[in-house]
Amino acid sequence: MREGAADGFGHSAVVRLCAGFAVSQTGTAAARQPPDNRSPVNTDLFDLTGQVAIVTGASSGLGARFATVLAEAGATVVAVARRADRLTALATTHEHIAAMPCDLVDDAAREQLVADVMGTWGRIDVLVNNAGMLHVTGPAERASIADFRRVVDLNLTALFGLTSAAAAPMLAAGSGSIINVASVFGLVGSAPLAQASYTASKGAVVNLTRQLAGEWAPHGVRVNAIAPGFFPSELTTEVFEDARTLKWVERNTPMGRTGRDGELDGTLLLLAGDAGSYITGQVIAVDGGWTSR
Ligand SMILES: NC(=O)c1ccc[n+]([C@@H]2O[C@H](COP(=O)([O-])OP(=O)(O)OC[C@H]3O[C@@H](n4cnc5c(N)ncnc54)[C@H](OP(=O)(O)O)[C@@H]3O)[C@@H](O)[C@H]2O)c1
Repeated sequence: MREGAADGFGHSAVVRLCAGFAVSQTGTAAARQPPDNRSPVNTDLFDLTGQVAIVTGASSGLGARFATVLAEAGATVVAVARRADRLTALATTHEHIAAMPCDLVDDAAREQLVADVMGTWGRIDVLVNNAGMLHVTGPAERASIADFRRVVDLNLTALFGLTSAAAAPMLAAGSGSIINVASVFGLVGSAPLAQASYTASKGAVVNLTRQLAGEWAPHGVRVNAIAPGFFPSELTTEVFEDARTLKWVERNTPMGRTGRDGELDGTLLLLAGDAGSYITGQVIAVDGGWTSR
């Protein structure tokens, strides 16, 4: 059988396809080149020197750690949350961390935050949307709509509001990385843990991540999400302090344990800087295998 005919394409069709490929790769000749093992290797893939990052929910838990990790990588980090005293304390731990208190469910305060960051530093390179809350609703059929709304307002609506405000200068600059902190409960349900508002909001964050990634990819702005499993923090106090629940978590985690301090650092750095320059629209679960089954 003639080459190219096996799947119904004749030789001329193959030539046309190949020609079309060449034409569609109108960029540089480099786009057509196979990987070159002699091209320079960038060993500073995690270096964020000169960049400005906003980390929300930095007054405690994962957010305080994220702020420190990005500052250690060289970024100037704007630490955001409501508890100003906590942010100020965090800022004293690293010369590259600045405190900017803000209630993120307040529309005007979010806009002001972005204006203040731009006014002070003139750029936003990384946004880590980490602020979030969990409300144990009890059985869904008895959940209060007001509580449901409160969770969605912070975990989803405020996240979207800040993201679109911060994306404007990123889009104008033609680069930026947005990292949404979702949850394994944005990928799977949490029953028997009764927290419908939380799982609904995190599921929406997962798909919002994909949507924004698609809209902004042509303009150089990447949008990804991290979906953590169980890590100790104020938000998970009840899980960690209740021996039965903790056992249940460990039993249902293939690695047999909860997440440890520092085990989100690598994923954060991967998505923030050059190491992740071709990654967008992805949700990376860091969960000891929770969502692998
Ligand atoms: N820990 C885990 O196992 C786990 C697992 C999966 C996903 N996550 C997600 O990770 C993120 C961080 O959670 P965490 O575990 O570190 O919990 P956390 O310690 O309770 O942190 C939540 C942060 O959100 C901030 N926040 C709450 N309401 C806010 C508002 N209206 N405006 C501004 N900031 C606000 C809080 O600061 P203030 O109170 O000072 O405002 C706090 O810094 C959340 O999105 C959570 O859903 C955590």
